[in-house]
Amino acid sequence: MGLPVGLLTVLGAAGCGSLTGKESMLQPAGPVAAAQVQLLDSSMWIMFEIFVVVAAVLIIALIRFRARPGQTALPPQVEGNNRLELLWTIVPALLLALLAVGTVKETFALNASPTMKNSVLVDVTGHQFWWSFEYPGYGNLITANELHIPVGKRIVLGLTSADVMHSFWVPKLGGKTDLVPGKENYIWIEANTPGIYYGQCAEFCGTGHADMRLTVDAQTPQAFAAWVATMQHPVSTPTTALAKAGYRYFAQVGCSTCHTIGGTPYAGVVGPNLTDLTGRLMIAANLIPNTPANLYRWIQDPQAVKPGAKMPDLHLKSKEITALVAYLEQLK
Ligand code: CUA
Repeated sequence: MGLPVGLLTVLGAAGCGSLTGKESMLQPAGPVAAAQVQLLDSSMWIMFEIFVVVAAVLIIALIRFRARPGQTALPPQVEGNNRLELLWTIVPALLLALLAVGTVKETFALNASPTMKNSVLVDVTGHQFWWSFEYPGYGNLITANELHIPVGKRIVLGLTSADVMHSFWVPKLGGKTDLVPGKENYIWIEANTPGIYYGQCAEFCGTGHADMRLTVDAQTPQAFAAWVATMQHPVSTPTTALAKAGYRYFAQVGCSTCHTIGGTPYAGVVGPNLTDLTGRLMIAANLIPNTPANLYRWIQDPQAVKPGAKMPDLHLKSKEITALVAYLEQLK
């Protein structure tokens, strides 16, 4: 990382967590983010050098050409100096051309299409206020809020929205791209090493915008294949008496109107797909850890957990919620 961006990091660390924290765009974890930081770094270098030159010339001029005591006449006037005019036209033009070369080159390199070679396609749909991820190459398996990807592979994301405009942003893996209703935008990302990368909707989309989070779970190819196999053969049959009751409540109280659970007749598409719920780290679009107690709180009163959440408070009885949690905690 160059000096100017390094300075920016130090300044940012004092006031803005996004520069150094788990959503830091200055700590790239894949080729796309690395190329973007490289571009930022070289632009900052050019601007930093211009600043140094301009500041130096200004300081010299202030000292050398200041008014001396007793001086009354005007200093020599230099308007219409062809050499100076040419100099301050050509130098900025060259600098802008230099910036344009890097920008245009990266724009082409990062431009994706759904048919990009040797890549995994994932259709991403933004919803108020959660994310849906669908894998057309893997029997259209669907998950929500936690995007699983294999490391070292290009992941082409087809981005669209079910309602209003959102913006997909996982800073360590790449820059922002809008999700626009009725249109599909494509970007690609790639993770170098396995790990969890944090992201966030970056376009104001309503009350729950700040809580519209996501994670990218970058896995070794073997772990990713295992996840795909689990998703293709979901465990959804309740085993205990309590979970069996939960399974029935899921339809009776209305959960199945909005949610899909793979391997069951429940196929609602308004809310997140819950097929691999037990495998998720967080719930409510990565707002709270996925524990039975939190799941209870969430079902009991979604708006209390996440203001603006579209999931309705169904005013369920305690025994219904307990049974639902018992069932949902079995899904994997
Ligand atoms: Cu979705 Cu902001």
